[in-house]
Amino acid sequence: MPPANQIVVRPARVADATPILSLVNELALKQVMLPRSPASVIENIRDFFLAEVDGEFAGCGALAVSWTDLAEVRSLAVRPALQGKGVGRVLVEALVADARRLGIPRLFAFTYVPDFFGKLDFTICQHEDLPHKVFNDCRHCPKFLACDEIAMTRVLDAKLSPPKLFGKPQRAIPLPQRTPSFVPPAGAKPVPKP
Ligand SMILES: CC(C)(COP(=O)(O)OP(=O)(O)OC[C@H]1O[C@@H](n2cnc3c(N)ncnc32)[C@H](O)[C@@H]1OP(=O)(O)O)[C@@H](O)C(=O)NCCC(=O)NCCS
Repeated sequence: MPPANQIVVRPARVADATPILSLVNELALKQVMLPRSPASVIENIRDFFLAEVDGEFAGCGALAVSWTDLAEVRSLAVRPALQGKGVGRVLVEALVADARRLGIPRLFAFTYVPDFFGKLDFTICQHEDLPHKVFNDCRHCPKFLACDEIAMTRVLDAKLSPPKLFGKPQRAIPLPQRTPSFVPPAGAKPVPKP
């Protein structure tokens, strides 16, 4: 298909939540991506980038930071009439640039279109390679343990992205005391016993 004229990508504004929600949820009805609630888009509007073709809304994508070394490409969607014209590629490259700006060395996506992500240098990985995603999101998903989405990853900075990202032992965080001790302020009179 010929490339679309004048693709412009920009960070989303709150007013963009309406077209984002209607596109993502229209495509989710066709079972090609997961739906989003209004709250999840509005609260995370800073994650979103918007593509416009000739000044008209053409698509969206979000970069959700999972951890210091990992972020997810989420809610990537191009209006059906404009698919196959390079809009999806431009959106992903904007998310890649944002991840580089943030110093994030690796991206991932869960997708039904592995060939598209393959063209954008993503490679297939195992769901177990992404424990943050599985722990935070997947366990709330109705498809948990029967997920048919393909996990894909793209390394942006191999030096900062060791193969075993989560294998390092974590430093133990001391737990708060169960019963906080009360120290009366200096000069306070003792409370008389009843
Ligand atoms: C997947 C999607 C975002 C791709 O966006 P797009 O604008 O249509 O894709 P582009 O035109 O930028 O394509 C970039 C390249 O990927 C290829 N490609 C695009 N969609 C593809 C598909 N479904 N299967 C295989 N290759 C595909 C294109 O041929 C192009 O290759 P080329 O550079 O060699 O010519 C879009 O089709 C879409 O919104 N689909 C429905 C929602 C969806 O599946 N989102 C992904 C959720 S993870």
